[in-house]
Amino acid sequence: MIIAYITDLHLDEANAAELGANTRRNWERIYDDLQQHEVDMIVLGGDIGEGEAMPWFFNHLRPYAWHVTPGNHDIRGQIRNWYRNRNMESQNAIYFSVDMEGHRLIFLDSAPDMVETEQLQWLRTQVQTELPLVVFIHHPVLPVDTWVDKQFPLKNRGAVKNVLKSQGGDVTIFCGHYHLEHTQQDGTITQHICPSAAFNILEDPDQFKAEAKAACYQLITIEEGEVSRQVIRLTV
Ligand SMILES: [Fe+2]
Repeated sequence: MIIAYITDLHLDEANAAELGANTRRNWERIYDDLQQHEVDMIVLGGDIGEGEAMPWFFNHLRPYAWHVTPGNHDIRGQIRNWYRNRNMESQNAIYFSVDMEGHRLIFLDSAPDMVETEQLQWLRTQVQTELPLVVFIHHPVLPVDTWVDKQFPLKNRGAVKNVLKSQGGDVTIFCGHYHLEHTQQDGTITQHICPSAAFNILEDPDQFKAEAKAACYQLITIEEGEVSRQVIRLTV
């Protein structure tokens, strides 16, 4: 199966505009590009944007199966107006899991810059499987030596990492939030950070520097025993 992973759209947000991003145009570029691929599912990595952009944006998703992992800019109640999923585990946070293609896909909600206690407890039950794990979460779990990691990390990333490691099998994390492309491995965990659809931040440990030259997203292929990915950069 092919998943289009789209994160950090920041639609209509003033910050993105100040950095030179035309966020609606970027989404349209990505949406047009999606038509070139046989996409089975869309996963929104969070930080979708302002409420006034929601009807316009979510109407594009009507033909697709899609899921979402809320980010720090998202309001859970707002997303729930558009997201329908009977298997959600909570009335508040948006998280669930599904087994497909020989993997367990786990979708987490880190909107408050952390995975809260109840959700973490649920995660402990979900990692108890023979299946390799594919985890979607807005915030990176493994640290990256860059400015944005120091400013806005997942507050309880150590606890989340320990739960994911406790299973002992392969774990692939797909995340966003840092607005850069980055891949790293820590034992059984491989983490892929996907660049932003709106603007991207240079990998610099000391300062914030951003550019809005491309609308980026990622194609993830999951087949029996294999997870692979490819970042698509659309020049704007
Ligand atoms: Fe974020």
